[in-house]
Amino acid sequence: MQIETIKRIYANYSHFYDLLFKQFFYPRQKYVIQSMQIKPNEKVLDVGVGTGLSLSIYPRHCYITGIDVSKEMLNKARKKVEKFSLSHVTLREMDAMNLDFEDNAFDYVFATFVISVVPDPIRVISEMKRVAKNDGKIVIVNHFQSQNKFIAKIEKWICPLSRRIGWRSDLSLDYLVRETNIEIDYSYKLKKIDLWNVVFVTNNKSD
Ligand SMILES: C[S@@+](CC[C@H](N)C(=O)[O-])C[C@H]1O[C@@H](n2cnc3c(N)ncnc32)[C@H](O)[C@@H]1O
Repeated sequence: MQIETIKRIYANYSHFYDLLFKQFFYPRQKYVIQSMQIKPNEKVLDVGVGTGLSLSIYPRHCYITGIDVSKEMLNKARKKVEKFSLSHVTLREMDAMNLDFEDNAFDYVFATFVISVVPDPIRVISEMKRVAKNDGKIVIVNHFQSQNKFIAKIEKWICPLSRRIGWRSDLSLDYLVRETNIEIDYSYKLKKIDLWNVVFVTNNKSD
């Protein structure tokens, strides 16, 4: 998917995104962010922060930077920052494939429901690795292609359709690991049968 197409799709979604997706995404964000046990003054980058569903979950003792390529999604996030007086949150319009941050800037780099939306997931993960500190945590919540061959075939088959609504259904976690040299600490699903995986990675700059 081209970045302009993504911007157009998410400009449209921004009007009803929370109404449609909060019920699925927010409980997962809440569980994962609480499990991260972010310490006082630690710096967190939320990549593709969208309408900012996650923003009120972070502890106020850390610094959060949220970036997104969609102005309209970010406008919704800005409203939440105001509404909840989230003075520890900074929002910036930015492409995750070219992060405008120095190397080793963040203790945590978090991406929920984003990796299968961006045009080049390998590039985004390499940017996430670059801006995360060595030994910092990269945390990804995303749908990945099923290990079950039959379901994986269906996911490949429906991919042209899923792309039209803003994400790809055929992204394989094994492929991402292979291409980006990340080493997964652990990975789990919140429910026995769930569309989304939670993946924790410790950033190893020597990889
Ligand atoms: C499915 S939404 C997820 C939003 C948020 N993380 C959440 O969990 O609700 C995907 C988001 O990724 C953003 N996005 C897509 N491509 C991007 C890119 N290259 N750089 C930054 N954000 C991007 C979209 O604008 C959209 O807000």
